[in-house]
Amino acid sequence: MRKILLIGVGAGDVRHVTFQAAEAICAADVVFLPDKGAEKAGLREHRLAVLAACRKGKPARLVTFAVRGRAKAFSDYRANVEDWHAAIARDYEEMFARELGEGEAGAFLIWGDPTLYDSTLRILDSICARKALALDYEVIPGISSAQALCARHKIALNEIGEPALITTGRRLREGGFPACADSVVVMLDGEASFDALAVDGFDIYWSANLGRPEEASLKGPLGAVGDAIKAARAVAREKAGFVMDVYLLRRRKD
Ligand SMILES: C[S@@+](CC[C@H](N)C(=O)[O-])C[C@H]1O[C@@H](n2cnc3c(N)ncnc32)[C@H](O)[C@@H]1O
Repeated sequence: MRKILLIGVGAGDVRHVTFQAAEAICAADVVFLPDKGAEKAGLREHRLAVLAACRKGKPARLVTFAVRGRAKAFSDYRANVEDWHAAIARDYEEMFARELGEGEAGAFLIWGDPTLYDSTLRILDSICARKALALDYEVIPGISSAQALCARHKIALNEIGEPALITTGRRLREGGFPACADSVVVMLDGEASFDALAVDGFDIYWSANLGRPEEASLKGPLGAVGDAIKAARAVAREKAGFVMDVYLLRRRKD
């Protein structure tokens, strides 16, 4: 039996790594590192820094793999993603058979938490279900960018007794602000999707590249800070070569 460790390593600060994650990182025989091209080289550097901090010189076999892109032309978004995941599952299955010996453990250092907007868990589940390779996996939680955002702005995710919802920029653009919650965290948004909302209805708490030296944070009524956020996002991208941002929108009650 081969084992895969899906280890949440936090959202950009090496100090996010929990004792449990550090222990799992030390226990791995092989570490699988995604290669997402030059723009995301900073993410690879961060993973290498996490490895150095946790393994303290204990060697690991590092296996870098190319990340398969999603087909650009499609009519059905869900089917497009499912096909993409199936192709990645085949790639991973081959990679595990090739790179991991019987009884060995391989680790993925998952950005933030493995259960939030990350498909590795689902892909591993489908490989295990196929049973072509005897494989087991374990999930080690990490600090997500949504948690790091709330901590940075010193705000609770939800208001007293109220729900909070986590969604994507695409869903916000296409469906508007969800009716079922007053607090909404938006991730995976490259297009300032908050522009689609009525600016005087919301407060925004925004952060880019949390935990990194070029981190930027802004907050205030959406109408007052929306343009400044777009400018700060461009600056953060310029400094780091990539930008990841997350924000919480709260419906104004006044
Ligand atoms: C593929 S999702 C992965 C989320 C991750 N699993 C988590 O728990 O945060 C990537 C998105 O997470 C958010 N994100 C991750 N790290 C971030 C950071 N350091 N600063 C701001 N947003 C971040 C951004 O919305 C980005 O588009």
